[in-house]
Amino acid sequence: MAENVALIAGARGICGRALVEHLDDDPAWEVIGISRGPKDFSAGARFIALDLLDRAACEAVLGNLSHVTHVFFNAVTRPSTAAQKAEEALAILVNLIEVIEPVAANLKHVQLMQGTNWYGSHLGPFPTPAGEDDPRMMPPNFYYPQHDWLVERRKGKSWTWSGLRPHGVYGFSSANPVSHLNGLALYGAISKELGLPLRFPGRPGHFERIYQFTDARHLAKGMVWAATSPGAADAAFNFTNGDFQRWCNLWPMIADFFAIPAGPVQTIPLAAMMADKEPLWAEMGRKYGLRETQLADLVDWGFNERIWATEFDQLSSMNKARKAGWTGVVDSAEMLLRLLGEMRETRIIP
Ligand SMILES: NC(=O)c1ccc[n+]([C@@H]2O[C@H](COP(=O)([O-])OP(=O)(O)OC[C@H]3O[C@@H](n4cnc5c(N)ncnc54)[C@H](OP(=O)(O)O)[C@@H]3O)[C@@H](O)[C@H]2O)c1
Repeated sequence: MAENVALIAGARGICGRALVEHLDDDPAWEVIGISRGPKDFSAGARFIALDLLDRAACEAVLGNLSHVTHVFFNAVTRPSTAAQKAEEALAILVNLIEVIEPVAANLKHVQLMQGTNWYGSHLGPFPTPAGEDDPRMMPPNFYYPQHDWLVERRKGKSWTWSGLRPHGVYGFSSANPVSHLNGLALYGAISKELGLPLRFPGRPGHFERIYQFTDARHLAKGMVWAATSPGAADAAFNFTNGDFQRWCNLWPMIADFFAIPAGPVQTIPLAAMMADKEPLWAEMGRKYGLRETQLADLVDWGFNERIWATEFDQLSSMNKARKAGWTGVVDSAEMLLRLLGEMRETRIIP
């Protein structure tokens, strides 16, 4: 019997899936995933189909998971307003913890996946390098009610909590079109198919400013580190690859990957310009023997358009994690080439 039992909420998503895959071959861990949809990748983990917004369903399905030792909370809903998102974020966490905690006698840790949006990076410039204790932004911010509720709930309990704040998580999930990686990979593949150079489609300032990435696999190692290291207990940590980059430095390398020239910046409204590309994608699928996918399932172009429009530095300090014992680092340029290569090997892109 495994020493640890991980209950991973959001197990089909970019972050959750990376953790499922990371723990898959580890005999010290049994893994149980939660999502509404079915497991859509190969892993030994048992998946439970559950809508965490449905309290009665949580009670019916989770009440017998008495052997869970660690909860990794990576689920996120995507309603249209920030206020509704904050409300739902709290509801899905409360529905899970209030059901699991009383039955899981050996519960050791509950971890929240947060992000640089904690500092308001999705809204505009924020003080950099961001530190974990920086003043909060004007609410609503969906991370805050989850965080405050969990910290309060932990008081007087034997289990501990942690929070991780990655930025720009690069990993694959076929269940989430809000994906940095898919947007980059499909934009490159379509540019090549149309005989175009790889022009940067975002704003000039984004091309030049400092950016930071988080490799989903690296994040998965960090999740386990934060959940099992006494020095990381009851704290939140920024969590990135640990290097900084600029798209202008990376762009020639990405163009090389697609074997096309690196073009200059040409800002385009991606969502509008890609709206007619579904037939082209279907044709490319037949021509190159790709896995059968719909563009709309893989990419939310509006997301990439928003991300690539931000014209300010995005930096988080990793000092707190390092002082607490985290030593990992990923070269973001190598990460991009590896992930694009994997998308080619798995026949998502030509
Ligand atoms: N991706 C990034 O670049 C990034 C960067 C920084 C921080 N983060 C943070 O990391 C966390 C996870 O993000 P992600 O990108 O991994 O999200 P994601 O890919 O959209 O995954 C979300 C997961 O939640 C599940 N889910 C959604 N609604 C649910 C519900 N009502 N009940 C049960 N499961 C539900 C989804 O599966 P089903 O649809 O099958 O239910 C999916 O498994 C979020 O808090 C996000 O803010 C992400």
